[in-house]
Amino acid sequence: MAGFLITFEGGDGCGKSTQITKFVDFLKDSGVEYLCTREPGGTEVGEKIREILLHSKADMSPETELLLFSASRNKLVEDVIKPALEEGKIVVLDRFYDSTYVYQGYAGKLKVEDIKNITKFATNGLKPDLTIVLDLSYDDAMKRKSKDEKLKNLDRIESKGEEYHRRVRDGYLKLAKENKKRIVVIDATQSVEEIALQIRNVFLNKLRKKK
Ligand code: TYD
Repeated sequence: MAGFLITFEGGDGCGKSTQITKFVDFLKDSGVEYLCTREPGGTEVGEKIREILLHSKADMSPETELLLFSASRNKLVEDVIKPALEEGKIVVLDRFYDSTYVYQGYAGKLKVEDIKNITKFATNGLKPDLTIVLDLSYDDAMKRKSKDEKLKNLDRIESKGEEYHRRVRDGYLKLAKENKKRIVVIDATQSVEEIALQIRNVFLNKLRKKK
């Protein structure tokens, strides 16, 4: 398949949205064809599933979460990501299956084997060409949050507590060690511009190698 799939990952408050916006601006300026989308969501069905996952008041087991995230993922891969890659586009994706390994697996304690099987089924084996993990400790993420943000209504996943979110960070670092070629960890305590520059350099290197 032609095209290039780059995914962005990281814990709550790592600056992912800012960096995705900057990266997309860079793609726009370069004049390349691209598509930017997010998980959970990105399709009509996916956005409805997102609403359930993030804003439903009901209790959910990690198993239920895994299946809902995967259902949203399958629709996005089939309807949006694969067609864009086939057209040769650069696809920028805000979270993908690494989030499931980390949140439902490492932090939610589901078995890796189960996640692997369901992810393969949901994605039909599609893998990112490059994954950027923005790494920030739980304490630094908390320091960054303004008082207002700390008091705002947290979504269902954000409300899972300190222990869970500390595990999210460790989970990403573990995953990166196991996938050294695909996952690049970037220190998110650096300045916005420095991080953006590193992401662009890593991306251009990978893109060159793929061509
Ligand atoms: P979002 O508002 O996109 O959060 P962020 O700005 O941090 O990316 O909400 C997505 C939430 O869903 C986030 O807390 C991570 C979680 N999530 C999972 O638990 N598993 C998954 O497979 C995915 C894609 C996301």
